[in-house]
Amino acid sequence: MLKLPEDSVALQRLHHLGVSARDCVETLAARRDPHHHPELWRQLQRCRRAHRAIHGTSGIGRFGQWCPPLRFRGAEYGLGRLAYDRGRGELPNGDTSYLLNVHVPSGDPLTTESCDSSFQQALDFFGRHFPDEPVSSFVCHSWLLDPQLAEYLPADSNIVRFQRRFELKQLAQSAVYDVCDTDVLRYVFGKAIDGPEGSDDLLDSLPLDTTMRRAFTTHLRSGRHWYRRTGWISLSRCL
Ligand SMILES: CC(C)(COP(=O)(O)OP(=O)(O)OC[C@H]1O[C@@H](n2cnc3c(N)ncnc32)[C@H](O)[C@@H]1OP(=O)(O)O)[C@@H](O)C(=O)NCCC(=O)NCCS
Repeated sequence: MLKLPEDSVALQRLHHLGVSARDCVETLAARRDPHHHPELWRQLQRCRRAHRAIHGTSGIGRFGQWCPPLRFRGAEYGLGRLAYDRGRGELPNGDTSYLLNVHVPSGDPLTTESCDSSFQQALDFFGRHFPDEPVSSFVCHSWLLDPQLAEYLPADSNIVRFQRRFELKQLAQSAVYDVCDTDVLRYVFGKAIDGPEGSDDLLDSLPLDTTMRRAFTTHLRSGRHWYRRTGWISLSRCL
């Protein structure tokens, strides 16, 4: 069971961090507990378990920017199968506008129906609660959008069908920062590694029980990499 420090210990830590007396009072008053906030607690426990399984330590700090950190500060909204946060950015045509960043939490299969339903829920929800931010596009930045996946997965697989919804931003000439072999390893095998991701020892040790898992190893063995790609769904096109 996840336990937070007692109020007195939390207060000492806040003082140690130089937090003002007023902020200490507000922070302590805003503390959550498992009895009054069971759903939040379930999420925290799930994150903590996943973090320990993948990284071998407690906490949520080694997860990427999105998901746990966004969710726990109330900036990520889970709507059906997908999750969203609000953003503003540049579109492929150079215009700037409000966007919804799309995240794909681990879990149930990414069926077309579940995505259709989630996108529709997002349009309803954000239209109702943030009417001053007219959204022009959904944006996703993920290994799931790497078109190389379609070389290995069937055309009717959920991932390939999800990819087809998006218009892809071109990969930068120096795409080294978009290489995401370690992300894929984490999402597909639940493993984090410190060494070289393509080492023969590592690849030999991985289970090959799904098409995606076989694709991962075949791809790296052939000297290629996986890339994190950015894609848009423009709302002027149909979903
Ligand atoms: C997104 C996700 C739900 C897609 O799973 P899905 O709906 O089963 O996808 P597909 O139907 O396209 O799967 C095609 C094949 O790849 C396998 N596969 C897909 N994702 C897999 C994963 N994360 N791990 C292992 N195998 C996976 C499937 O089992 C299937 O293989 P099979 O036919 O041999 O059984 C899944 O990849 C997942 O949970 N990923 C973690 C979350 C994530 O990566 N989010 C994005 C973060 S940037």
